[in-house]
Amino acid sequence: MRKLAAGNWKMNGTAAALAEIAALNARYDSAPVDILICPPATLLSRASDTAGPAIATGGQDCHAAHSGAHTGDIAPDMLKDAGASYVILGHSERRTDHGETDATVRVKTVSALNTGLTPVVCVGETEAERDAGQTLDVIRSQLAGSLPDGLDGAQIVVAYEPVWAIGTGRVPTHDQIEEVHNLMRAELVARFGDSAAETRLLYGGSVKPGNAAEIFALSNVDGALVGGASLKADDFAGIIDALAQA
Ligand code: 13P
Repeated sequence: MRKLAAGNWKMNGTAAALAEIAALNARYDSAPVDILICPPATLLSRASDTAGPAIATGGQDCHAAHSGAHTGDIAPDMLKDAGASYVILGHSERRTDHGETDATVRVKTVSALNTGLTPVVCVGETEAERDAGQTLDVIRSQLAGSLPDGLDGAQIVVAYEPVWAIGTGRVPTHDQIEEVHNLMRAELVARFGDSAAETRLLYGGSVKPGNAAEIFALSNVDGALVGGASLKADDFAGIIDALAQA
């Protein structure tokens, strides 16, 4: 399986930020790992034109429908038309800010797959859930609810992002990350069979160039979903290079 370094720019970046993608393109003609940038939708088309052959682009969300009367929403077909090959779904900020449920994420995942996009489905516990000892139950239940039946494991990416680690500089212990990633692999194999050995499992939450190598050494960590440190080409390159060496 090819590992994946994915950047989620969230609601950051105007035209000037395309220079960061141009800098990554200049640095990686080809790369030993897959590289993905998910800019805001307003930049997607230009980001795709700037990215070059070694860098894929993706959306940060999509609607489940392919077109229609949904003011402000974006269909997966529109992301694809703007050059995307991936879409992040069920990020905790979507679940919190927009009330997305596992059921919402599941129908979006089906729609993204039908459009030929690779979904990056996000799961993760809150701090209160971790403190209550519910982490593994939460992850099991989010995976069960957010993924449709009958998947080929190679078609999807799953990201574990503990909500309390996002943008906080706090990272779970290595044991905590491995416990969740090993559970996710086992759950996916139990449900989708051997193909789930090919599902890329990303860790996300305060990944930086300085901690990336130790996270990538953990079992069943096949890459990262990076927020803040993906906004600057030099920082993201530090993470990409650590993944390439893992
Ligand atoms: P940070 O890397 O800024 O903690 O964000 C993680 C994240 O939410 C990526 O989707």
